Parts: sequence; C-alpha cells; structure tokens
Amino acid sequence: MSTTRVLTGITTTGIPHLGNYAGAIRPAIAASNNPNTESFLFLADYHALIKCQEPERVKESVRAIAATWLACGLDPERVTFYRQTDIPEITELTWVLTTVTAKGLMNRAHAYKAAVQENIDDDNADPDRGITMGLFSYPILMAADILMFNGGKIPVGKDQTQHIEMARDIAQRFNFLFGETFTLPEAVIEESGMILPGLDGRKMSKSYNNTIPLFEPEKKFRKLINKIKTNSLEPGEPKDPNDSALFDLYSAFADPAAINDMRQQYANGIAWGEMKQVLFELLNEELKEKRDLYNTLMDDPAQLDQILKQGAEKARDYAIPLMKEVRQKVGIGPIAG
Ligand code: TRP
Repeated sequence: MSTTRVLTGITTTGIPHLGNYAGAIRPAIAASNNPNTESFLFLADYHALIKCQEPERVKESVRAIAATWLACGLDPERVTFYRQTDIPEITELTWVLTTVTAKGLMNRAHAYKAAVQENIDDDNADPDRGITMGLFSYPILMAADILMFNGGKIPVGKDQTQHIEMARDIAQRFNFLFGETFTLPEAVIEESGMILPGLDGRKMSKSYNNTIPLFEPEKKFRKLINKIKTNSLEPGEPKDPNDSALFDLYSAFADPAAINDMRQQYANGIAWGEMKQVLFELLNEELKEKRDLYNTLMDDPAQLDQILKQGAEKARDYAIPLMKEVRQKVGIGPIAG
C-alpha cells in the first residue's frame, strides 16, 4: 500500500490546554501511528512571531508545546518532528514563492480581511493600521512549510482551509513557470476533532480565558475542575446531561459504557460535588503519567533541543535537495554550474 504524507504545523503561542489535547493532540498522535502514513509535524515558531512579540513568551511556548507532544506519546522515531526555524530552507523557499504569488491573492486572505474590517468598523482613517507584512503574507510562509516537504494531506482546522488552497495556487503557479516541482496539497478538515467546554461552559479557548491547562500540578488541576460551572440543582434532583459542561468533559475521556452509566447517574441526581470528584479522577488517571513525563522534559531543555535537532536533520534531508532544485529551476546558483 502506498503511504500518504501528512504534514501539519502548530503555531507556538500559549500553553496547551485540555481542549487542545482532546481536539488536536490526541487524534494527531493516534493518526501518526497509522502504518500507511508518514507524518511531518512541526513547531511553527516563525508563525508565532506574527502574534507575539514577547521573546520570553515565545521561548516558553515552544518549550511547553514540544514537551507536551512528546509527553503525550509522539514518537520522534516515527514522526519527523522539528522546529520550523531549524530549517533555514523554509524561509528561503518563502522568498522564492513570494516572487510568484499575486498580491491580490493575499488581499483575499480571511485573516487579513478581518483585520482590515476591524479598522473600518473602528473608523480608522487607515484600514491597514497595525497590520504587519507578517500577517499579510503569512499564507506564503505556510505554503513554503507545506511545499518544502511535498505534504499531500494537511490536517487543519476549518479556519485554515483557505491557506491550503492558497498553497495549491502558489504551487501551481510555480509548476507552470518552472516545471513540475511541487505536489498539490489537500486540506483534511478535522471534523471529528472534539470541542470541549471550558470553565464557564463556552468552548474552551484562550480568547475566552476559560481554559484548563493540560499539565497543571495535580492540586491546581483539581481546583480548576471544581470551578467548572454547574447550576443550582441539589443532590438527588435529576440533572440534564445534555446541558452540562462536566458531562461533556467526562464524555470526551470515558469509554461508552461509563458514559451510559453516567447518564443514569445524572437521572438519579448525582451531586455536582461528586461529579466533579469523578471527573477529576478520570482526567487525572489519563494525564498523571504524561504530566510526570512533561515535567521531566521541561526540566531538561537540553534533551528537548536534542530531539528537535534530530528531527531537523531528518527534515533537512528533504529540504536541502528540494531547495537546490528550486534554485536551479529559477536560475540561481553557481555561475559556472
Ligand atoms: N497557521 C496554522 C495555524 O495557525 C499553523 C501552520 C503553520 C500550519 N504552518 C502550517 C498548518 C502548515 C498546516 C501546515 O493553525
């Protein structure tokens, strides 16, 4: 059977939370174990600079995200796991692609258009106020991330599909001008990715400030679980599992039989305090060992660097020859060559 090359990037901003784990990390690691796929997974730290200009936070986030994926079971022997900035060929390719990308294509990018719209809504005289060239042209960096490794299937959230289409457009343009070079990538939309509720019952998201960080120390983790919003129903009163953040969280981690049983316990009027205790136990069981491993890795940044360096070497085995080919095709290289 032929193998599919699956590639995806994680922008390194923030510290992973439970929603990231159930929605992205856990399914991606499971998928990476499929013998018919070859996975490339990288930390998009140049993308992070578009959103965050605080060096300490940028640094901390790369470290936490690398440690999280490894602690959650990513096998760096199976997966080519690397940091974008360790592959200088990616930024080199970005420039070459920039020279074949229509500005009009970038004008249509949702992220850019949304930023412009915000300025217009705020009655700003300059619709481009506060918008960097990084934000404007980052779909080209993303195209380079993908095309560099001839990524075929690109698992992304819905908000990113337009960028994959742009990468296709850019690849086609290059292929047309300089000959067949790049595979055209396809987005794989993660429909099955679970959406977890946060502390206030809305979708768990950094922008709502309602997250439960994945690897909080156990005591703090318990405290956060205890803070999850419930209603004022007393113990013994029947409760509705379809309107309960605690139940949704439970369902994302328990097996089907346990979920059914919990439905019954809701009907029987389980006390919120007890439900929180049960949920804590379940989550803690799933995360305990991973948390220990995470802490070990966080305390040993040299080991993280070493793992990422090995990943970068594997990635550069592809990137260096491809970049050489690209340079040749566009007419750059030794004058005598
Ligand atoms: N921009 C993507 C996001 O914010 C992350 C990303 C960067 C990416 N480069 C990529 C995803 C290449 C897939 C392929 O989610």
